[in-house]
Amino acid sequence: MDVGGLVAAGPVWVGSSELTMSLDGIVACVDAGAGAVVAKSVNESAAARRQLDIADYAFVSGDRQVRPPGRAYPGDGLLNRSGLAQVDLDDWLGILAAGVAHGAAQGCPVVGSITLGDPAAAARIGRALADVVPAVELNIGAPHGREARAVRQLTEVDGVRDAVRTVRAAVGVPLFVKLPGQASDVVALARAARSAGADAVGLVGRYPGFLPDLDGGAVLGSWGAWSSPGCLPMSLYWVSKAFQQLDVPIVGTNGARTVTDVLRFLASGARAVEVVTALWIGGPAVLRELVDGVAEVGDDFVGSALAGTREYADVPPPPSPAWEPYTARWMSSGR
Ligand SMILES: Cc1cc2nc3c(=O)[nH]c(=O)nc-3n(C[C@H](O)[C@H](O)[C@H](O)COP(=O)(O)O)c2cc1C
Repeated sequence: MDVGGLVAAGPVWVGSSELTMSLDGIVACVDAGAGAVVAKSVNESAAARRQLDIADYAFVSGDRQVRPPGRAYPGDGLLNRSGLAQVDLDDWLGILAAGVAHGAAQGCPVVGSITLGDPAAAARIGRALADVVPAVELNIGAPHGREARAVRQLTEVDGVRDAVRTVRAAVGVPLFVKLPGQASDVVALARAARSAGADAVGLVGRYPGFLPDLDGGAVLGSWGAWSSPGCLPMSLYWVSKAFQQLDVPIVGTNGARTVTDVLRFLASGARAVEVVTALWIGGPAVLRELVDGVAEVGDDFVGSALAGTREYADVPPPPSPAWEPYTARWMSSGR
């Protein structure tokens, strides 16, 4: 399958995270059957690397109980603080080249990733990455960008256009641009990224989160980035709107945990789906399950949900008001 000029082995991709921060991690994703693997992000900033020293991860149950360290269960949310790969660019290029060679034998491309700091530096790193990887993902939606100066989150059209144009000019392989979910108009950002030369857009980055511990502080002791199954409909909102309004390949991310979730991303218009938190919880077995679960899905399934989706103005009223069972229960309770 082709996504923005990248030939992938399938639509279930492993997104960028600490799981893809080493050659062993990348190899494990390839061997578990990933359609593509996005390596951990790098950028030019020493502060972004130092930030990894204070990385922390809190898995949170459906009723918002924080799990003990090291424990995580399907359905949990993840509040986390992290940084970028602590590796020199030359060493990183060597690791990526080895990952690319391993993936190539199985038809699984390994993609390089940059989380934006300074656009000119991202262009320099992108040019170097493009010598060893078949595609580069530029993350301009990092939720940590609201907390840490070392990475940036772009939420305005002009900033997106300028940054993507700068990196595009330097990168001679397919360029994927991962956008924030937390912006007033994500479709406008995707349009700007496309017009500046993105071959595909990633929709959408995680949201910033905050969870008081009710003991005078907060879980992680700071704000963080939040991923949870509950994010799925919010991600699919922007995937489906971008699919409807733009002609650009979409890589979905943020909220896929199960085969059904991946199918919903595809039905909303994503050609591929980057999964991360589900793999932190369930390991390679979950990746294999997702890959097998969508193996039979054809190209025509992409965006299929839009055929039966209407604007509010075109929705016919139901025979009886849909709120009635709820208001009736409300009125009858406590009397
Ligand atoms: C611990 C952790 C680290 C991450 N690091 C990166 C990163 O370095 N670069 C990036 O573009 N995205 C990063 N992400 C975001 C993921 O690639 C993915 O887009 C996001 O987690 C949403 O997908 P999910 O719901 O399957 O987790 C990270 C996510 C997690 C949970």
